[in-house]
Amino acid sequence: MKGVVLAGGTGSRLFPLTKVTNKHLLPVYNKPMIYYPIETLLNAGIKDILIVSGKEHAGGFLKLLGSGKEFNAKFTYEMQEEAGGIAQALSLAEDFADGEKVVVVLGDNVIEDSIKDSVEEFHKTDSAFIFLKEVPDAERFGVVELNGSKVVSIEEKPKKPKSDFAVTGIYMYPFEVFEIIKTLKPSDRGELEITDVNNYFVKKGKMKANFLKGFWTDAGTFESLFRATELVRKRQ
Ligand code: G1P
Repeated sequence: MKGVVLAGGTGSRLFPLTKVTNKHLLPVYNKPMIYYPIETLLNAGIKDILIVSGKEHAGGFLKLLGSGKEFNAKFTYEMQEEAGGIAQALSLAEDFADGEKVVVVLGDNVIEDSIKDSVEEFHKTDSAFIFLKEVPDAERFGVVELNGSKVVSIEEKPKKPKSDFAVTGIYMYPFEVFEIIKTLKPSDRGELEITDVNNYFVKKGKMKANFLKGFWTDAGTFESLFRATELVRKRQ
């Protein structure tokens, strides 16, 4: 199984922290942010990992992570010419995936759970997987509409969320995801949305949603970056 960490974007919500460096290189307690999604993959037994970053700070990622030897893993790099959304960044992983399934983690997502069991489950099916977490501020995220534990639809940053369950930044996709991305049109915020990709699989009846038990946070705003640091510190 191959893993992809998406670490592009401009980090505009963290300005001026992101004026001279990339968001994913900022500290979350005692490690650079990108260590956490990498550890999520490594702990699930995924050691062949592509890191997609923006071209501006690509050198920082290389310097920090290198070949992956230190992590007992193999790292490959791709550069996003300009920020065009999560789905656009994922499209750069097509050659790396080379016909295989991929496990994708956003570079600013920190989770407590292991996804090892889900990776094994994913290995045996042809469905895509998403991971949900109940949150108090659902309107900041992709939000599911649920029928029991089944996902009916997903809305990106809805004004009136249909549930309190956010779609976290951990996704598992069959190789056909790359064909789907090619059919997407930019959203109102000018991005190729991962929510549109996920809704494709929901409509096809090929989306499995698992619920995370432990903590989850992103770290792309001052509040969530602070929260990520607190949660990681408490865990240790
Ligand atoms: C992105 C996705 C959103 C998801 C979130 C998880 O949001 O678009 O669906 O819930 O990541 O971190 P963004 O960080 O681009 O606002």
